[in-house]
Amino acid sequence: TDASLTIDPAFSIGTVDPRLFGSFVEHLGRCVYTGIYEPGHPAADESGLRRDVLDLVRELGVTVVRYPGGNFVSGYRWEDGVGPDRPVRLDPAWKSIETNEFGLGEFMTWARAAGVAPMMAVNLGTRGVQEACDLLEYANHPSGTTLSDLRVKHGAAEPYDIRMWCLGNEMDGPWQTGHKTAREYGRLAAETARAMRMIDPGLELVACGSSNAEMPTFGTWEATVLEEAYDQVDYVSLHSYYEPKDGDVTAFLASGAAMEAYIEDTIATCDHVRAKLRRSKRVNLSFDEWNVWYLSRFQNDPPTEWAHAPRLLEDHYNVMDAVVVGSLLIALLRHADRVRMACQAQLVNVIAPIVAQPGGPAWRQTIFHPFSQAARYGRGEVLRVEPVSPAAGEVPALHATAVRGEDGTVTLFAVNRSRSDALDLAADARALGDVRVLESWVLTDSDLDARNSATDPDRVRPRTAASTLEDGVLRAVLPPVSWSVIRLG
Ligand code: AHR
Repeated sequence: TDASLTIDPAFSIGTVDPRLFGSFVEHLGRCVYTGIYEPGHPAADESGLRRDVLDLVRELGVTVVRYPGGNFVSGYRWEDGVGPDRPVRLDPAWKSIETNEFGLGEFMTWARAAGVAPMMAVNLGTRGVQEACDLLEYANHPSGTTLSDLRVKHGAAEPYDIRMWCLGNEMDGPWQTGHKTAREYGRLAAETARAMRMIDPGLELVACGSSNAEMPTFGTWEATVLEEAYDQVDYVSLHSYYEPKDGDVTAFLASGAAMEAYIEDTIATCDHVRAKLRRSKRVNLSFDEWNVWYLSRFQNDPPTEWAHAPRLLEDHYNVMDAVVVGSLLIALLRHADRVRMACQAQLVNVIAPIVAQPGGPAWRQTIFHPFSQAARYGRGEVLRVEPVSPAAGEVPALHATAVRGEDGTVTLFAVNRSRSDALDLAADARALGDVRVLESWVLTDSDLDARNSATDPDRVRPRTAASTLEDGVLRAVLPPVSWSVIRLG
């Protein structure tokens, strides 16, 4: 079956903000404890941070990491995680025991070692303006006040200088501790933002949008929150997880299209409020939780006992999941003009690209690969490539984008969503002039359920593929259910 697109540097969508390749570390299950942090593990450094996991995080190419939640943050007291006394608490969000052994200081040490920028969330569920300001003062004020001197006393002489802050988490969700109406949350977000900016004017602030596009309040929630907080915030958040619902694999493979519709509807809502308020500033999007998540499995089997670092949400991803993750990355890139930040949820063990066994090895899940390739080559200008192909279910089989790097190389990212037909892609690359194929990879498998494991950690990974460029036409065969990356230069 034939498919086509055009690669022309004249048609640019926008420049990718490197923060599009963010991730997320929540105090949930084994993401922190026996994930990034495991004192006594053979690979742990003197701070208890696993070096093998740090190596994989760097290889993944993550730029920003959101912390400490998630649902967890809406009942969290940040003071519990700093200084010598660490109280043990219940975490009602995940029915877990939180020892608080790991907190802000440990996270900042980890973030520095990983080479990532922190994105902090404040608790606007059980707490409010004052506690957010206290945390900000502790983290960012140089010294000379009780809270900033406390940080110095705790061993951090220099301020953490955290620039990105989320004003709460999923406050539209009835499951959220301290859940609020849009009007209540909008007011609280606006006042928290105003107070935080008085302490540190250079912050970038994210207001909670909807927890997913299926929320009954989706659209109205964003509009109401922004009516209250438009002038105070820079971004509105989006969260969305995808899985084959009722076994509908065709719809699952179309998740990238659902994500694009969600993004476009959110942009429309932001711009509607902008018009209504007669503002020139645009509020951009922070897609700060996205991934494949077999949520229904968790809902059918929720935790029943209080436990510390239990095995929760440890999805074991297959080839098809990796292809869908690739398509979600394409969806984000195709809207890089307005989606400036995004965090795959989460980083280690919990619905994650990296698995770390307690006392054992760490390895890459299938979904690691599309992320690392996009994070590495998806830097620069996103080009409008206008793919044309037959349908796969209700969407075109071909989902694609191209990114032109500063060095002039162009990387094409393409997903074939068809389960039955390969696509014979012919891409018009004449506008690129005299270029050749530098590299070409494909991630696919005759067994779409193949996965990586401790004994076979590289079972699923990108393999070198054949593609040609002659007379300005790039030709490649995209197998059914595949993720392809082709670099031209
Ligand atoms: O990432 C898992 C959970 O999904 C987060 O805690 C929450 O924000 C979302 O519902």
